[in-house]
Amino acid sequence: MKEFASIDIGTSYTRVLMGRMGDDGVIQINGAGVSPSQGVRNGGVVNIEQTVQSIQTAAREAELMSGLVVEEAVVNITGKHLKGENSRGVVAVTNRDRVVTESDVLRVIEGAQNIRIPADQEILHVLSREFVVDDQSGIRDPIGMTGVRLESEVHIVTAGKTALTNLRKAVNAAGIRVTNLVMSSLASSEAVLTSGEKDLGVAVVDIGSGVTDIIVYVDGGVFSSATLPWGGSHVTQDLSFGLKIPMEAAELVKRNSGCVQIAAVDPIEKIELPAMSGRPPRWVLRQEIAAIMEPRMREIFELVDQELMRSGKKNALSGGVVITGGGSRVEGAASLAEEVFSMAVRKGNPLPLGGFFDRVDGPEFATSVGLLIGAAQSTDTARKAPRESGSGWMQKLRSWVSENL
Ligand SMILES: Nc1ncnc2c1ncn2[C@@H]1O[C@H](COP(=O)(O)OP(=O)(O)OP(=O)(O)O)[C@@H](O)[C@H]1O
Ligand SMILES: [Mg+2]
Repeated sequence: MKEFASIDIGTSYTRVLMGRMGDDGVIQINGAGVSPSQGVRNGGVVNIEQTVQSIQTAAREAELMSGLVVEEAVVNITGKHLKGENSRGVVAVTNRDRVVTESDVLRVIEGAQNIRIPADQEILHVLSREFVVDDQSGIRDPIGMTGVRLESEVHIVTAGKTALTNLRKAVNAAGIRVTNLVMSSLASSEAVLTSGEKDLGVAVVDIGSGVTDIIVYVDGGVFSSATLPWGGSHVTQDLSFGLKIPMEAAELVKRNSGCVQIAAVDPIEKIELPAMSGRPPRWVLRQEIAAIMEPRMREIFELVDQELMRSGKKNALSGGVVITGGGSRVEGAASLAEEVFSMAVRKGNPLPLGGFFDRVDGPEFATSVGLLIGAAQSTDTARKAPRESGSGWMQKLRSWVSENL
């Protein structure tokens, strides 16, 4: 049985998951390791040696648990260097019977990649949104349909070359082969969304420590994506500065007593700040804490809202917004988000898998679980014959794209 692994290199934590496909077709998680990240800033590798250490520590923990070794993995990529844009391709259907074949699909997707890319960027993903055969739009799998003209609508994501190089270097130096690099928001959404939500129209907002990743689905496909260089660590920084306590103490205060909704906090409730050597104990109003945290979180959500509006599809999101990532754990996050977006917001945990799922059952594991699902799918198609099902060619497309990286 084939095993697979994922690595989520985050600004605050590096997470390694190992899994295998169960006989029932459900992914079994058989190893999970988490280590504090060193050498990562706003989602990007800034110190390779330190990142290698974090990967190795997390991988070792996962390996001890599973009794297996991580040889290759699907790895996340994030950072504000990621740019998403929509494009389209048009080709004539060449076959004599005018039946769309796989080669027409590959040609039309290739044609859609004909966009101007800055010299320091390269294509990371070409995500097919829909096909149009003659005048018939909204087609997901055009193979076998009859027509003379095939169009494709795609969402293209490009990534900074330097960021790609540093990431690959760090994982390789940890002794692990990178099978695929996947944009964090794509992975997170794979873990927390149902396909029904993607069809309805939905946005996923993964609030991490140093970045917030946004992805918008319309009619089942990716319509837009963006990454903001802000996250939970900025809330912690504000607390550290505002309460004049170290970052570690501010992190504890945020997790144990923090709230991003001033109005939801009892106005007379006080908490004791974590003890610091040489200082007498100090009590502060919980409302004072919320008064520091809410403006920063509101600002982050306002920037997210701007991205949703920029996509032009905010009104098409009947499935609302799903917030995930460790930063979404903060008390009051969903209510504040609802207020800022004027939309329904739910919190997103990874959808259940088998094995040691209890070890990854939290929003901070959304990216790593999504990457593991992707790893399972590519392993699965690698084993199968060329094209067996509708989703098979999508997989093929994906690997075709990564082969051309
Ligand atoms: N219980 C909690 N309450 C409030 N905040 C929390 C809680 N648990 C985690 N966080 C915050 O979540 C953030 C870390 O989230 P996560 O692990 O998803 O980030 P990351 O993947 O390491 O970083 P990034 O995705 O930005 O590169 C930190 O800012 C942390 O303070
Ligand atoms: Mg993250």
